[in-house]
Amino acid sequence: MNLGLAERYFNLLYADIDGYRLSAAGKQHWGQTPPKELTYGEVNFASFPALLAAADAPPGGTFYDLGSGTGKAVILAALLGNFRRLVGIELIPELYQTAAAVREKFNQRLRPALPQSYPEPDINFRSGDIFTEDWSEADVIFVQATCFSENLLTQLTERCQQLKPGSRIISVTATLDAPFLTCFHTDKFALGWGLATVWYYVRN
Ligand SMILES: C[S@@+](CC[C@H](N)C(=O)[O-])C[C@H]1O[C@@H](n2cnc3c(N)ncnc32)[C@H](O)[C@@H]1O
Repeated sequence: MNLGLAERYFNLLYADIDGYRLSAAGKQHWGQTPPKELTYGEVNFASFPALLAAADAPPGGTFYDLGSGTGKAVILAALLGNFRRLVGIELIPELYQTAAAVREKFNQRLRPALPQSYPEPDINFRSGDIFTEDWSEADVIFVQATCFSENLLTQLTERCQQLKPGSRIISVTATLDAPFLTCFHTDKFALGWGLATVWYYVRN
C-alpha cells in the first residue's frame, strides 16, 4: 500500500486513542511504583516505515511486537504490507483491550476498502506476559526494550535462542549479547518519545 494511504488509515484507526493515558490508568493496579519496564512510549508513522525496512526481512513472514501497547507497531506493519501474520503481546489489560478494538475496526471498516493487490494480513493481539508467552514462530520481532532491567534483558536474550535461524530482532535502545545473535545494523530513529538507537540482530 502506498505511504499516503497507509498514513490516512493509520490516523483514522488511532484518532481518539491516547496510549499514554491508558497506560497510566492500567498501571494503577501496580500501586505507586509500577515496574520500570511498564514505561510507555509509542512508535509513530514518521519513522516506523524506515525503521522496519532496515530489518530487510523477506516478505510474507510473521511479525511480533513484544509489549505492543495500543498496537501501533503491529497495525503499521500490517498496513505497510510485508507480513502475512502479525501478533502483539501486551501485559496491561487496558492497552490490550484497546489494541483488540483497533483490530476489530481494521477488520470491519478498513479491510473491505483495501486495494485488491493488498495481501490479507492476519492480525492478532494477546493479553499476556512476553516472558511466558510463546513467540518462537516469529520471523521479525520488534521490542522497545529501553526500560528493561539487566535481568529482563538476559531473559529476553535467552528466549531468542528458540527463534528460527534467519529471524530478525529489532531492539530499541538495548543491545542483546549472545553467540547465537549477530548484530547486522544499527541506526537512530525519532520515536514518539524521542531519539532512539535501534539495534538489528539476526538469529544465526
Ligand atoms: C515502550 S512501550 C511500546 C509500545 C509499542 N510496542 C509501540 O512501540 O508503540 C512498552 C510496552 O511493553 C509493555 N510491557 C512491558 N513488559 C511487558 C511484559 N512482560 N509482557 C507484555 N508487555 C509488557 C508495556 O506495558 C508497554 O505497553
